Amino acid sequence: MPGRVAIVHGCRTPFARSGTVFRDLTALDLAKAAVRELLERSEIDPALVDTVVMGQVVPSAKAPNLAREVVLGAGLPPSVPAHTVNRACASASQAIADVASAILLGHAEVGIAGGAESLSDVPILHSRRMAQMLVEASRARSLGARLRPFAKLRPRDFIPDTPALAEPSTGLTMGQSAEKMAKENGISREEQDRIALASHRNAAAAIDDGRLPPELCRVIVPPRYETIVEADTLVRRDTSLESLALLKPVFDRTYGTVTAGNASPLTDGAAAVLLMKEERAAALGHAPLAFVRAWAVAAVDPGGQLLMGPALAVPKALERAGLKIGDIELFEIHEAFASQVASNLQAFERTLGPVERERVNVSGGSIALGHPFGATGARLTTTLANEMRRRGARYGLVSVCAQGGLGFAMVLER
Ligand SMILES: CC(C)(COP(=O)(O)OP(=O)(O)OC[C@H]1O[C@@H](n2cnc3c(N)ncnc32)[C@H](O)[C@@H]1OP(=O)(O)O)[C@@H](O)C(=O)NCCC(=O)NCCS
Repeated sequence: MPGRVAIVHGCRTPFARSGTVFRDLTALDLAKAAVRELLERSEIDPALVDTVVMGQVVPSAKAPNLAREVVLGAGLPPSVPAHTVNRACASASQAIADVASAILLGHAEVGIAGGAESLSDVPILHSRRMAQMLVEASRARSLGARLRPFAKLRPRDFIPDTPALAEPSTGLTMGQSAEKMAKENGISREEQDRIALASHRNAAAAIDDGRLPPELCRVIVPPRYETIVEADTLVRRDTSLESLALLKPVFDRTYGTVTAGNASPLTDGAAAVLLMKEERAAALGHAPLAFVRAWAVAAVDPGGQLLMGPALAVPKALERAGLKIGDIELFEIHEAFASQVASNLQAFERTLGPVERERVNVSGGSIALGHPFGATGARLTTTLANEMRRRGARYGLVSVCAQGGLGFAMVLER
């Protein structure tokens, strides 16, 4: 087997609430910004990159293979092969695993993995009937034949078909699933709000003491190129337990506990990581931030507790790493919802042993920073690797829950 897979560098765009500063950009624009900056900061010769894998959850109908368009638009040689993966919110983590697999198999020595999402630019579909009429009209050979299909038009045909944040198999939204988990696992509103507060406080501290800003690149927003976005826009420094407690539940207005404050917001952003075979990094003079020790994916029935995939993926990854949960010094746990974080921690503690909360999401999490679905896994990995280096931590763990009942976990080592 070749040597280990090194995480050499990571970089992301600022994360912003969808529909705000990045509303006129696409996921591809954001992905290109992150990858261009990654290439520049790491000073890697683009010709050395063997593969690019990107994650995206709601792909564009015009550029469905985001990774390939990134290669063609971010300064990489057109000869670099690229593919795009969708493992829901764990997509960028899956991209990292794909590149790591290619390196371990000897198919690549240098690769870029990451992901992007623009929830400002989701495809809005015509109704099925309208789409059929349009296709029929486009095939017609005369003006009359072209207009004929539209004689069947009804007002309801104009109603657009927008993508929903709901499970196709159960119809439940993510938020309703988070409510279900809170109720079934006895997660109180206060506990959820405490997790949200810690997310904002830790993120603000990591920004103020200079830990997070170096992970971000600047985005100069077209078409005027006057607006420069260089900082995350979602972190709320004024969050308090009192203000969180005042928010009304969103997904179960009568008995619910999940609010806009303890859920991750809809976000635009992109992130990317440079991975290398250990020997190659050494030969090129790169000091790795950390190495990939092991990873695992798992799945639960979406009809049960949707976001509990990590409860199965984390033990599997730890077993593959030959480690116990007590060996992990830092945790980066994706915060889809505070009730999901608390439920996953409850499961880890039940089956694996105690987890010190002070070691979890020390630089904030998805609730405060935002969650561009396809990019989050690369943010978690970069932040974990940087913090492990800063603290001299030996082992760290990334855990991501995802739509479809999926869970992903990766152990990093130094
Ligand atoms: C929960 C959700 C519906 C809220 O959307 P929203 O209503 O647009 O949220 P907003 O940011 O406008 O917040 C609503 C209110 O809460 C307030 N608020 C939000 N976070 C707060 C905080 N930390 N402290 C204090 N107030 C807060 C806002 O100021 C706003 O108040 P206003 O109405 O007086 O302006 C949306 O973020 C969502 O769908 N999240 C889940 C995404 C998801 O499913 N992800 C998948 C994960 S796998």
